Amino acid sequence: MGREIRVLDEADSTNLRVKTAAGEGASAGLVILAEQQTDGRGRRGRAWQSPAGENIYMTVLLRPDFEPDKAPMLTLLAACAAARAVYQPGEKCPQIKWPNDLVMDGKKICGILTEMGMKGGSTEYVIVGIGINCNQTEFPEEIRQKATSLKCEYGHEVCREEIVARFLQEFESLYEEFARRKSLEFIQDEYETLLVNEGKRVCVLEPGKEWTGVAAGITETGELIVKKDSGEICEISSGEVSVRGV
Ligand code: BTN
Repeated sequence: MGREIRVLDEADSTNLRVKTAAGEGASAGLVILAEQQTDGRGRRGRAWQSPAGENIYMTVLLRPDFEPDKAPMLTLLAACAAARAVYQPGEKCPQIKWPNDLVMDGKKICGILTEMGMKGGSTEYVIVGIGINCNQTEFPEEIRQKATSLKCEYGHEVCREEIVARFLQEFESLYEEFARRKSLEFIQDEYETLLVNEGKRVCVLEPGKEWTGVAAGITETGELIVKKDSGEICEISSGEVSVRGV
């Protein structure tokens, strides 16, 4: 992973650039980084604010040989790799807000957008896009209460190159292990330790209804386990619902 790294001064979106490269036959492991994005994309069709020079905007191309239904699990792997990459001994520990946001003190420092390309019913490629707020200290009004950066939390600048290198190393080793096992079992403990929702009340927003329960870890395929007040155990898939703390 990262044997070919392209660093751009500006991109519309690194996910879009990698998607185009994938269509042109680029090899698995290609990484595209941009200093800024003019059309940064987030989950659920939202925009990802991408100012110049302060943060990490990066997308990795994968060409997995496993079934399409396993692709969402890569997002959870990427969240673990990102948590390992940003962690600095003696500093605050990042937490994961299921399925794949990294937060510190409840504010977001990292988002991940995984997208998949299909050909004839099988996975042609998966792209994993990661945005990490590194040295940004001013946030637009509309996200000020929800977003933070490593510099704001640690009280000092961080080296983006080191974080990128650590992420690629960690993600590669987690991905190789996952490709062998086809399950998240080997990172379940680590993921649950980092999970900000663990043991806490969450509100599950499904199309047309919402309900509350207590988060109780993840399954080996990445669903969030939520125990309803009635005692019923539910497994929540990220594609269908969103979860927020209550
Ligand atoms: C989220 O909504 O939390 C996901 C945000 C993902 C942002 C990253 S930045 C690099 C890559 N390029 C994009 O356009 N989006 C992802």
